[in-house]
Amino acid sequence: MLTDKSLNRQEKGKFIVFEGVDGSGLSTQASRLHAWLEQTTGRKVLLTKEPSEGPVGVLLRQALNKRIQGLGADTMALLFAADRLDHLNHAILPALAKGYHVICDRYLLSSLAYQGRNFPLAWLKQINAEAIAPDLTIFIRVDPVITLQRIADKRFQVDLFEQENILREVLSNYNLLVNELGRKGQKIIEIDGNHALDDVSTEILSSVQELIPKFGVKNFQYQS
Ligand code: TYD
Repeated sequence: MLTDKSLNRQEKGKFIVFEGVDGSGLSTQASRLHAWLEQTTGRKVLLTKEPSEGPVGVLLRQALNKRIQGLGADTMALLFAADRLDHLNHAILPALAKGYHVICDRYLLSSLAYQGRNFPLAWLKQINAEAIAPDLTIFIRVDPVITLQRIADKRFQVDLFEQENILREVLSNYNLLVNELGRKGQKIIEIDGNHALDDVSTEILSSVQELIPKFGVKNFQYQS
């Protein structure tokens, strides 16, 4: 028989995070997983992203696309952490509590990988101490040469971190972080994102299914 405690645990949604360098296809894959989870689990799924749509996230996006200039890297690191807390309190935690699954395009690992270029991990972890651990992190690994080409094909404007030397450093930080999380027993899967979008999606679905067997899927087709 289920105790109240185990029932609650079962009903709470799963928190799934996508990570990778700019242009890795995070938004596309997050939205495909969103469609799949909703269709196959019958549960509501919140699809969200960081920087969030909240007030601090809006400010950060203006700094990232250079509409606002002159914010220091330390200020940005604190803003990313503040946005995360606001996002958790206003969107992620309430959704999980209602039993929704939550898919978030970027989360804490982005701060550790991007701001980790300038600051010690210990400080970044401290300012993000309230950020709960995800149930699953999906890290999409793509070579920055490929991601920058994809970005150039899609738009004219180049955001703050979209340069090869920066993204190489970010990728090497991600490599260390992915190993660290794995050693600590957090669920993290690495996906080779250098292939066609559909192949990457298929790989993500089969990994998610393996990890969370009750998400079982029947004949689901992506609508591209
Ligand atoms: P991205 O999510 O790729 O946004 P877009 O919708 O414009 O494609 O870009 C967000 C940028 O912010 C990306 O360069 C990574 C960076 N970032 C950080 O540096 N730290 C963080 O904590 C987060 C969440 C994002």
